[in-house]
Amino acid sequence: MAAAGSAVGLGNIWGFPTQAASNGGAAFLLIYLLLAFTLAYPALMAELIIGRHAHANAVNALRLISPGRLMQRIGVGTGLVGLVVASFILSFYSIIAGWMLAYTLASIAELAGLDALVAWLRDFSLGRNLLFMLIFLALTVGIISEGVKEGIERWSSRLMPMLLISLVLLVIYVLTLDGAMAGLRVYLLPDFERALEPGLIINALGSAFFSLSLGVGTMLIYGSYISDRENLPLVGGLVTLVDICIAVTAGFLVLPAMYVALHNGVEIFTASGALISEDTLIFTVLPALFDSMGIAGIVVSLVFFFLMSIAALTSSISMLEVPVAYTIEQHNVGRKPAVVVIGLIIAAVSALILLNFDSLFGLVVTATTRYSQPLLGFMFCIFAGWVWHRDNLLQELRRGYPEVEQGWFWKIWPWYVRVVCPVIILAIFAQSLT
Ligand code: TRP
Repeated sequence: MAAAGSAVGLGNIWGFPTQAASNGGAAFLLIYLLLAFTLAYPALMAELIIGRHAHANAVNALRLISPGRLMQRIGVGTGLVGLVVASFILSFYSIIAGWMLAYTLASIAELAGLDALVAWLRDFSLGRNLLFMLIFLALTVGIISEGVKEGIERWSSRLMPMLLISLVLLVIYVLTLDGAMAGLRVYLLPDFERALEPGLIINALGSAFFSLSLGVGTMLIYGSYISDRENLPLVGGLVTLVDICIAVTAGFLVLPAMYVALHNGVEIFTASGALISEDTLIFTVLPALFDSMGIAGIVVSLVFFFLMSIAALTSSISMLEVPVAYTIEQHNVGRKPAVVVIGLIIAAVSALILLNFDSLFGLVVTATTRYSQPLLGFMFCIFAGWVWHRDNLLQELRRGYPEVEQGWFWKIWPWYVRVVCPVIILAIFAQSLT
């Protein structure tokens, strides 16, 4: 449940549908599904298996499975880069999540008739952005400092079902509105020419890696907390399935909602005829849609942004756990002081991004998610496929799954993660650079 909570986040409910909307709808959906099952799932398994074997954070785990000095150094380096990338991801993630919190409160303020407060909460000001980024980080720090069982597991298993139920209710409601069917058509009928554009493929790859929290040691550290009795390929498969299902379901909410907004007179195309996308979509189109629905719209908007905030929280705790677990395990520091100090450092980075929003925000997002994550995922595949001894791998999988050698997973995955994953990741990369 916690791993699924990490995977399901703004990436699914915000990132995936908005990317799909601006990349030809169904074409993006198709490529995304393909990459999620054939690349992201095997890479997720690499992290989970190494993590459970080592019962340690990425830095120590990669060192442990490496024979020889050189590979150990590379392992430590990879783990440390992952840790830094995870912290940077959290620094921009908490800014976006702060907006979600602000919009949740704005709906409550609107119900209470506090118009000036509503306007302030929805306005893009430095003060609001800083305040809500800090509130969101404080919530994350609070949960993480309670520890793995009492904090991460308890909150993930409470929040995740809530998220699912409200998402499904919202989809059902939006699909009953006029105009929804046009959005459904865009989402489900692929334009195959678009599907082969290199830009689309690398976006879909980045999306899939982001959505499954790969490359930075998040899933590795969650793997290290999994009991030896669990069947790992099954756990990983379930996490992948839940993640993809929620992303696809969110698409059934966001794309139809855009066309309902169009039907209600909200502008959703730019002057050049392209769909407006990304932040404009959620923070302009959706609120405009909710407003056009009267009092019911306020409630729907409250549910929607509350849902986004929850999804963000179960993900952000998994990001913070990466540097925290390393600091605790490596430097023998208590959990609470480690969490507070790291939380403060990340808050400082977030504040820096907010102060230079135009130049830094997009840069940090692209550098971490589009480039670092797939490249680090590549490294994890190399470690699982080439560096780690095959017998040890088999032994680790046998723990929760004694008959693993007879199953299809063992027949395919080892050579797949060794050859196919690294080659495809590099090929998509090379293509995106030309
Ligand atoms: N997967 C989450 C989402 O879809 C975000 C996330 C959590 C993440 N942990 C991560 C992304 C680690 C990258 C790395 O929103």
